[in-house]
Order: sequence, then structure tokens, then C-alpha cells
Amino acid sequence: MLLEFFHYLQSTQLAIGLRQSDYAFPLIEGSHIMALSLSVGLILLFDLRLLRLAFQGDPVSRIMHQVMKWALPGFLVMFVTGLILFFAQAETVAKNRYFQVKMLLLVLLGINALVYQLKFYPRMADWDTGSAIPTGARVIAAVSLMFWIAVIACGRIMAYEL
Ligand code: HEM
Repeated sequence: MLLEFFHYLQSTQLAIGLRQSDYAFPLIEGSHIMALSLSVGLILLFDLRLLRLAFQGDPVSRIMHQVMKWALPGFLVMFVTGLILFFAQAETVAKNRYFQVKMLLLVLLGINALVYQLKFYPRMADWDTGSAIPTGARVIAAVSLMFWIAVIACGRIMAYEL
């Protein structure tokens, strides 16, 4: 049922035009890659801070606020360009194992970030005044680091297979 719908999407004139375009598709894919640095790249910096592997002297809350200012628009670009790349070849991409794993990882990363937001973010200011970063927050940072690297690996491998 879903695959039939994706087959319909992929056979639309707009999708065919996008797939065969000399500039539009490469520009969108290039933006998908470029926005990595503004989104995942910044989140990894924050994870390194939580893991006390970088920026130890800087308050956690300041790093988070500076990072999120750019990471949120960066993720918006990642998702919009990703959806357009998907639309252009929906059926082929949906059948791709690496794409399926990538989407699962994105859902798990969303849950991971939500747990951080609900459980640890409210007490973040305490860490700025020297109390230790809770183990749970560091586990969330470690999971984030590993899963984002896996998402990028899946994206890169699937791009080869398509
Ligand atoms: C923040 C989340 C995301 C990250 C970090 C990410 C990362 C990547 C990377 C590294 C590539 C390989 C690009 C290349 O080297 O050619 C890629 C390709 C791709 N991504 Fe994403 N992506 C994200 C979200 C999405 C979403 C939400 C979708 C669609 C629903 C999507 C659909 C695609 C498609 C279809 C390709 C293959 C393009 C092609 O070569 O034909 N991505 N992604």
C-alpha cells in the first residue's frame, strides 16, 4: 500500500523532472550535505562538552544556547532537503535498507533529545556553577554522538546504492 503510494510519487512529472534535472537535484543534495555542519556538526560539539571532552571551561548552558541558535535552522534545511530528495525517488529510497535504518536512528535520536529536554535541561544551570554533569546526561551525549555518526554513514552508503 505505502510502496504503491511511493511508486506513484516517484512517477509524477515533478519527481521525474527533479531526478533528471542538471542543477536542481545536485543543488538540493549539496544543501543536504552542507547543512550537516550547521546541524549535526553543532550537536556533536555540545555532546563533546557534556562528555567533558571539549570546551570544559565554558558553561554548558551557554554552549547549548549558542549551538541551538544555528542547529535548529540547520535541521530544518536537513529535513526539507531530505524530503525533496526522498520525493524524487520515493519507492527506490523506501526499499533501501540503509534508508530504513537511518529513519529508525532519527526517531531514536528524537527520543534521546526529548529525554534530555525533559529530564536534564531544567537542571542544566546547576552544572554551570560547578556541580557534576549527571551520568544520565553523559550517556545521552554518548548515544547522540554514536547515532549521528551512524545516520551519516547510512546516508552516505545509501547514496552510493541509489
Ligand atoms: C538530520 C538528519 C539527516 C542527516 C544527518 C542526513 C544525512 C545524509 C547524508 C550524509 C547523505 C549522503 C549524501 C551524499 O553524500 O551524497 C544523505 C542522503 C540522503 N538523505 Fe539524508 N539525512 C538526514 C535526514 C534525511 C531525511 C529526513 C530524509 C527523508 C525523509 C533524507 C533523505 C535522504 C536521501 C533520499 C538521500 C540520498 C540522496 C541521493 O544521493 O540520491 N535525509 N543524508
